[in-house]
Amino acid sequence: MKLLISNIKTLVQVDTEARKWVAGTDMANLNCIDDAYLLIEGDRITDFGKMEDIPDFDDKEGFDCIEEYDATGRMVFPSFCDSHTHLVYAGSREIEYSDKIKGLSYEEIAKRGGGILNSAKLMHEATEEELYESAMERIHEIISLGTGAVEIKSGYGLTVADELKMLRVIKRLKESTPLTIKSSFLGAHAVPAEYIGRQAEYVDMVINEMIPLVAAEDLADYIDVFCDKGFFTVEETDRILNAGMKHGMRAKIHANELDYSGGIQVGVKYNALSVDHLEFVGDAEIEALKGSETMPTVLPGAAFFLNMVCSPVRKMMDAGLPIALASDFNPGSSPSGNMKFIMSLACINYKMLPQEAINATTLNSAYAMGVEDELGSIAKGKIANVYITKEIPSVEYMPYAYGSNLIDVVILRGKVL
Ligand code: NIG
Ligand code: FE
Repeated sequence: MKLLISNIKTLVQVDTEARKWVAGTDMANLNCIDDAYLLIEGDRITDFGKMEDIPDFDDKEGFDCIEEYDATGRMVFPSFCDSHTHLVYAGSREIEYSDKIKGLSYEEIAKRGGGILNSAKLMHEATEEELYESAMERIHEIISLGTGAVEIKSGYGLTVADELKMLRVIKRLKESTPLTIKSSFLGAHAVPAEYIGRQAEYVDMVINEMIPLVAAEDLADYIDVFCDKGFFTVEETDRILNAGMKHGMRAKIHANELDYSGGIQVGVKYNALSVDHLEFVGDAEIEALKGSETMPTVLPGAAFFLNMVCSPVRKMMDAGLPIALASDFNPGSSPSGNMKFIMSLACINYKMLPQEAINATTLNSAYAMGVEDELGSIAKGKIANVYITKEIPSVEYMPYAYGSNLIDVVILRGKVL
């Protein structure tokens, strides 16, 4: 089947040459074609260009089965790549939301057995089927919001059985949705209640028991650790990343959300694919990231929801670094997977330009989850995950109209949903 989208007002984020990411001042540049067409064959993008150059498809053999979609007044974007989520979870945590409004900090809530441990308790009680069903509902929601690829972490299990249960749910999701999904093993998300005061023993269990079992079932693409004040130390992170890498999982970690934790440096040391959160970034962290292959990834939803300081995104871009943005969709610190809203937050709170936010939620976030060869831009040969907007006046209108759903048609793997 061939699908021709014609009369596109603006075709956004086109690549004629393969790019891994876009960095520094280049992030303000967005490659677009006005008055464009896009051709999809099967699940791939095969051609695009200006309407005036459109090939005469009627003359060509094989083009008789073409379906045409007239996108007059509308734009076409590559689907968002959401490179950091925890969207497999049980229950919800709106009680803590109220506690936070009353003034309790994230760390205080965690110390009282709330936070991640609260989700771990609910995770333990949930069946694999219940987890799968509720996660699938979230997947349908983010698809309708324009996401075409998502990374999902474990980390609410915190026991051998429950971590495997979570990862098996993610595996089932991978097999049953048109979304591209990557999985990360985050056994070191928090120290479970039974191990409080015996953190070293828990780390040993992550390394000696969990990682080998996760690898044996091929359940995780990446190894993650919450390397931060009050959670896991640099030394523990170092050991866990080493163990994960020995089993073929590349590092992709939580770092510097609560303090200058050293997480960025240990991530770069192990060539992490990304270091995520980054509220606490100074000159030393920027120096460590320069010249590395590690994508600095900022999660504006979590900073917004927890009322935290903002990551110094402009300073990092001024230093020539790339930035990716992701939702951090999870029940505690960011209960939303709306990537369009993440762009709005990035523009308003971090002073990112709309073009920078679009680069950060497409090509750069595709890199941050290891799918930049296949997704993240409109390029020949890439997977046809795109969305068609409603009629909008400009690219900037997307983050500007922060509360409006402007996504009209979603196409995943070449299929109109
Ligand atoms: O990415 N920062 C660590 N972990 C999650 C929060 C998870 C939770 O509170 O449930 C995050 O924000
Ligand atoms: Fe997270």
